[in-house]
Amino acid sequence: MIRKLANAIFDSAIMRGFRIKRVSRLISTGLPKQMRPVLNYLVTRTVDENTAAVAKLAEDRRREIASQGDKRIEIYYSPKPGSSGNDSSIDARPQTGKVLEFTMRDIAKTGKNKTWGTALYLIAREFESSVGIELGACAGISGIYLSSAPNLKKFITVEGSEALAKIAQESLKSIKNVKVINALFDEAIDSELPSLDSKIDLAYIDGHHEKTATIHYFNRLLPFLNPNSVVIFDDISWSSDMRDAWNILSKRSEFADAMDLGVIGVCVMKTKFDSTEVEPIYWNLQPIIGRCGIGKPLGWN
Ligand SMILES: C[S@@+](CC[C@H](N)C(=O)[O-])C[C@H]1O[C@@H](n2cnc3c(N)ncnc32)[C@H](O)[C@@H]1O
Repeated sequence: MIRKLANAIFDSAIMRGFRIKRVSRLISTGLPKQMRPVLNYLVTRTVDENTAAVAKLAEDRRREIASQGDKRIEIYYSPKPGSSGNDSSIDARPQTGKVLEFTMRDIAKTGKNKTWGTALYLIAREFESSVGIELGACAGISGIYLSSAPNLKKFITVEGSEALAKIAQESLKSIKNVKVINALFDEAIDSELPSLDSKIDLAYIDGHHEKTATIHYFNRLLPFLNPNSVVIFDDISWSSDMRDAWNILSKRSEFADAMDLGVIGVCVMKTKFDSTEVEPIYWNLQPIIGRCGIGKPLGWN
């Protein structure tokens, strides 16, 4: 009851006005200006026509997948904390989680929801990303949002489950310059990234949600990232272990800014890599867009 009231007040027109003003104030103190449309959207939930059209494409596809109901399909579930060991170096390859069977209804829900999908699209659009990689395609829902960003010339998305990679391929078939790779993340990084014409400037890590693994995949992507790249870590509040990963990653000196949006963490790399160990500026944006509790993943029971 009290929580409902608090939410209603937080979402009232007056409070939304205050929250939008806070976004402006943060931008005037150095928050990357590209975040304004993203945060304004997360406060007001209003979008322009193009963004609405991208969301329609993704959500129609999500409905189509969900309509297959109880049909079961394999997915790599994220492993328990510690199951990938403690060595997050480039050489130590983390063990994947168990392969579980999800219904198509659940697969449709596993993809980022409309709100966060739209936020991903706006991030890719506002940072004018041109080469993107996603680790964790699932059915290709977030892939539709990200790869629809106007400047994206190439988008690679990786999925370990063969059945899901096929579904992602179908979801993304109408979007140009998208490559779906059916492989484990480490294998895809080995096979695809060294031969890219241009470096990556947008990376979205959304799979294998375990601390050591998440840090490992960032370390692996690092040599292929441009200065100024945007790196999005998904589900940073999915478990305490993922929150630990975020607490470590958001202090990495390769970043200029680390922004905590509760569900996702968005980091912007320094313009020039230097040898200084200066930590990024940490922006806690949860008070503006709403706080996110730490989850207890059901699949570990
Ligand atoms: C949370 S889902 C991705 C959701 C998707 N990004 C979206 O929002 O539409 C994570 C996906 O990563 C895949 N995955 C997990 N660990 C993997 C690994 N080590 N290599 C390849 N795929 C993996 C899973 O099979 C799953 O489909």
